[in-house]
Amino acid sequence: MITDWKKFTKQAQGELSSVKSSSDLEKWRIKYLGRKSALSLFFDSLSNLSLEEKKRLGTTANTTRKLLRSLFKEKEENLGSPSSLSFFDIARPGEKIRQGHLHPITLVSRQIIKSFESMGFAIIEGPEIETEYYNFDALNIPADHPARDMWDTLWLRGNQKEKLLLRTHTSPEQVHYMETHMPPFRVIAPGRCFRHEATDSSHEVQFHQIEGLMVGEEVSLVNFKAIIELVVKNIFQNNVLVRFRPSYFPFVSPGVEVDIKMKSGIKNRNSKTNSLSRDWMEIMGAGMVHPSLFTEVGYETGRWQGFAFGLGLERIAMIKYNIEDIRLFFNSDIRFLEQF
Ligand code: PHE
Repeated sequence: MITDWKKFTKQAQGELSSVKSSSDLEKWRIKYLGRKSALSLFFDSLSNLSLEEKKRLGTTANTTRKLLRSLFKEKEENLGSPSSLSFFDIARPGEKIRQGHLHPITLVSRQIIKSFESMGFAIIEGPEIETEYYNFDALNIPADHPARDMWDTLWLRGNQKEKLLLRTHTSPEQVHYMETHMPPFRVIAPGRCFRHEATDSSHEVQFHQIEGLMVGEEVSLVNFKAIIELVVKNIFQNNVLVRFRPSYFPFVSPGVEVDIKMKSGIKNRNSKTNSLSRDWMEIMGAGMVHPSLFTEVGYETGRWQGFAFGLGLERIAMIKYNIEDIRLFFNSDIRFLEQF
């Protein structure tokens, strides 16, 4: 039974001041504040006393207990004992770090590039800001040519001699590459293109193409057909039909367009068939490189032939992932992007 409270408090304080570790501190806590400590036993004994006496004796005991508790807390913080280090609990479940992931355009682009690479195509890149010459003139599209209407252009402030623009297609890469390389070669040029469009669900001011160019002495449209069918079937796991349709581009002759159609339509979440996959959909323009381009870059006349194509990545991603609005790709809506 504690009789001298001053002495008791002094003793507890003295012992606490020599505590150096958290395990010693725990021993001290058990001795002075634990269930079997003198203090607790004192409180237990009060239950048999009268209310008057409880009050008289209890007040001092209470003050002492409060003091010891706050001294304990203080010491605990100074020592950095386990409870104040709880943020370092190695058994605590970790906090999940939100991971980023690839954009749907990046996903299809990588897949397509990989399949061209497996057939020996090299990857090249060109500038997004072009001169009028590379985007149009070198490709057989002079200023007064009606075909320029097909590429509504975002012009930049350049000088009088050289007008600058944001490339409207990746075809200028054909010219850049041929100016500096001799056939035979096979290359692809993935990149971003820009058009001055009124946007709607299938038109955007920016989009991606993969340009392709294969030139040799005997490269033919048959090679093109075989290669493209392989690539397209690879993207759509064989669930696709491919159609070649005559078309016109000033820098190829003959020109074709390639359409695809899913063998079985892709179902969306409400198990409605994706309207994009039900009909034939144009995914690229292509053709045999026009001989005037070879002349333009200084190749020997009549020696080389080859094919070129420009493939639209958004179209492919829209069909593959059942996306009905092209504008979703670039408006950074996290609810859309998180689905891939
Ligand atoms: N550059 C054309 C377009 O943007 C596509 C194309 C590329 C056509 C290569 C023929 C050859 O529509």
